[in-house]
Amino acid sequence: MTQRVYIKTVGCQMNVLDSEMVIADLKRHGYTVVDRHEDADCVLYNTCSVREHAEEKVYSALGKIRESKKDHPDKLIGVMGCMAQKDQEIIFKRAPYVDMVVGPGQLHTIPDLLTKLRNGEGRQMAISLGRKDDKQAVVARSHETFDPLRDPTMRPTPFQAYLRIQIGCDKFCTYCVVPNTRGPEQGRPPQQIVSEARVLAEQGCREITLLGQTVNSYKFSADGETTDMTSLLEMLHEVDGIERIKFVTNYPKDMTERLLVAVRDLPKVSPYLHVPAQSGSDDVLKRMKRGYTIAAYMEMFERIERILPEAAVSSDFIVGFCGETDEDFEKSVALVERCRFKNSFIFQYSVRPGTKAAERLEDDVPREVKAERNHRLLEVQNRIAKEENAKMIGREVQVLVEGPSKKAADADADSPAVQMTGRTPCDRIVVFDGNRRQAGQLLDIHVDDVSSHTLIGRVKTVDVVSIGL
Ligand code: SAH
Ligand code: SF4
Ligand code: F3S
Repeated sequence: MTQRVYIKTVGCQMNVLDSEMVIADLKRHGYTVVDRHEDADCVLYNTCSVREHAEEKVYSALGKIRESKKDHPDKLIGVMGCMAQKDQEIIFKRAPYVDMVVGPGQLHTIPDLLTKLRNGEGRQMAISLGRKDDKQAVVARSHETFDPLRDPTMRPTPFQAYLRIQIGCDKFCTYCVVPNTRGPEQGRPPQQIVSEARVLAEQGCREITLLGQTVNSYKFSADGETTDMTSLLEMLHEVDGIERIKFVTNYPKDMTERLLVAVRDLPKVSPYLHVPAQSGSDDVLKRMKRGYTIAAYMEMFERIERILPEAAVSSDFIVGFCGETDEDFEKSVALVERCRFKNSFIFQYSVRPGTKAAERLEDDVPREVKAERNHRLLEVQNRIAKEENAKMIGREVQVLVEGPSKKAADADADSPAVQMTGRTPCDRIVVFDGNRRQAGQLLDIHVDDVSSHTLIGRVKTVDVVSIGL
């Protein structure tokens, strides 16, 4: 009998892509995908460890899935992703009903492990080596991924896809668990990336988002030749059918003049740059071991403003990091005021076992103060986002239409005329009255109104078919 699999994904875009690949692999092995864990023979949970809250949510969700295992004792439960790599056997201890634990570098083993489980071979675990377990090259190999397997049906839309260009991270920011869970930084070979982009274009994909923890640090060397991010963008720009190229997440130190000029000169590359600052205070940045000062961040920011005056820049901030004073925090507020980011993701510091900050620094900012600072920074950021969006009123923007908006999806599922949503090249969300057939099209939209997160507009050209001629 065909096995039915249900997968739940939390965490970053890397996890979304990993889930797509695991499903592609399982389908090749005869599995079918179901939408409810109750209906599945095998439930997979793709997890994130970046903050404690993310992990707690997984454990409480697993508890619920356990309930459905009571009626279906054969149901297999697998925990994959960053939490699997970080916690390993601890997961079996905390959730003894879990059958399988698989780290993000070992996902290709899942079909085999499931077969072993069905054959009664008992609990299965596949994790990659720790950073200090062996020589760098051996550790790196144990974090291999299997990117060429793709499954268009798993993507949020058929015309947008993630494409991993870099695995792991070597920056070791003191608060961050990712270098441990995803292993050493490795650039994928450019030929492999380009041929994957071709496959995606053949599958109807128009927009690719290149993924890496520090994507602009991308490098691949072989036979005495090095390909950097700029050369890679030039190569991908040649792929027919791909109309938009985005890339996340950027590391401030590697945002070079050469790369910014390429973003300016390659029309398919979106002028959208996510370059997290994390804090506005040099003292905090130093304790975070981010490797730059605010003066250096501003130098980079001004380089963006000079070369790409129309670019949208976004950031991440951590509030309440160890030793952050009111004065430090005010510097983060000042940085948001100065840079006027398109948006910022703001997080309250969460101690992560195994990181330098957990070992050496005291988590001394009270919970309420973290919450207050989070609220305050978000308020400032939202006001600025709205002010910046307001500058778009009266302008025309090119939108890649993604599908019905959330509002439309919640309302009338059958009506052809609905509110649609899409994104501009600079990653702004746009809603407009349209019809479902517009999904996947690039349309010119006239912006009439804005909120802090959305532009509201109307289609510039009349769609002849939609008015029934
Ligand atoms: N590689 C990316 C981001 C990875 S994690 C980068 O370097 O920018 C995504 C975001 O989560 C980070 O940018 C940071 O703002 C936040 N984050 C990471 N570790 C955290 C922690 N321990 N507590 C709170 N936020 C954290
Ligand atoms: Fe984490 Fe820093 Fe690497 Fe980003 S650059 S993944 S924050 S260690
Ligand atoms: Fe989370 Fe791992 Fe991504 S810790 S943010 S899923 S790389």
